[in-house]
Amino acid sequence: MKIAIMGFGTVGSGAYESAKAAGGIEVVKILARHGREGYEYLNEIITPDIDDIAGDPEIELVVESMGGVEPAKEYVLKCLRAGKHVVTPNKNLISACYSELMEEAAANGVKLRFTSAVGGGIPWLFNLLRTKRCDEILQVRGIVNGTCNYILDAMYDKGADFGEMLKIAQEIGYAEADPSADIEGTDTLRKTVISTNLAFDTAIQEEDVLCYGIDTIQACDIAYLKEKGLACKLMMKAEKKAGAIEVYVEPTAFSADSLEANVKLNNNLITLTAKNIGTQSFYGQGAGMMPTGQSVIQDVIDIRDGKEQNVGGKGVSSLKADNSNAVHRYYIRHDRMCEHMEPLVDTYEERDGIYYCISKPLPVEKMHEMGHHRKEKGREMFFAALDE
Ligand code: HSE
Repeated sequence: MKIAIMGFGTVGSGAYESAKAAGGIEVVKILARHGREGYEYLNEIITPDIDDIAGDPEIELVVESMGGVEPAKEYVLKCLRAGKHVVTPNKNLISACYSELMEEAAANGVKLRFTSAVGGGIPWLFNLLRTKRCDEILQVRGIVNGTCNYILDAMYDKGADFGEMLKIAQEIGYAEADPSADIEGTDTLRKTVISTNLAFDTAIQEEDVLCYGIDTIQACDIAYLKEKGLACKLMMKAEKKAGAIEVYVEPTAFSADSLEANVKLNNNLITLTAKNIGTQSFYGQGAGMMPTGQSVIQDVIDIRDGKEQNVGGKGVSSLKADNSNAVHRYYIRHDRMCEHMEPLVDTYEERDGIYYCISKPLPVEKMHEMGHHRKEKGREMFFAALDE
């Protein structure tokens, strides 16, 4: 099969290497503004012009690994309309434009696949869709951002500095071009939208999901939680409850002996609970050149070999996102025990002017609102839900 790759960064070059390793897939064009160091021998097939790819009848499938929504969306639409299958790891694009792109692919009789958009090298979405063929998904949850896990794990294990670990994650190629998407939780949010909509056949949008990241975490939070036998992870969660979907992203404190607490380095751990199968977890490399690149090429091979995938459910569900009944106890660290805070707190300790609290059960909506409000005001605060 002759294919093209649009975008030749970390994942694009990983896909190129995996295509070579797989055999039977020939990369005949690469869309890039310039060549990549170490790949000078490919300069002849590099083009900056999308029409060289969309207009080439030899190319049957295009891998889009440019990232971002535009111009990736415009280029993907062009390729689908030109009758080419598309495989993409681009979670921004799929989270924002899933229905529109799937409809366009169907209208043109071609496939659009994006297994690597959530979980990098882990065949999470593949298995989620497979489970759904004969079961009902009740909940999906997990650690889906390798950069955040890499930082949190190093802070927990070695007392490492937040900023230093973020810099290393960027150098290795785990982090997004703008790493605020990782640490503020936006990357996890997009992966939550994709996983949720596939799990429940919903049409939930990014703005329906509550999201709080780890950008305000400090070494003192990790140390305090560790002293209490807890480790902090950034979690996505979506659950079918009382005719709606509770769906949010937030830091969560897990018992040190739990599966989640023991996810090391940039690994992801993604779990589904379904009516018949019960609970199943998927663990592995959630980011990086070769894990994500090979996952992209697995989709290419499936399309080449005519393997069908059950993408949709039984039509779009009427279930909407609704977090109004979601409640947890929270760990909260803040700088002042004011009259707003005191009634929410069950127990607290003050150390050097910092308040370490365990809250009463609080609505998730209220906790997130307080966290964002404090952030906007530049006031010290971090919170993590207690997993209990
Ligand atoms: N920045 C992302 C992460 C890349 O760290 O998980 C993979 O989606």
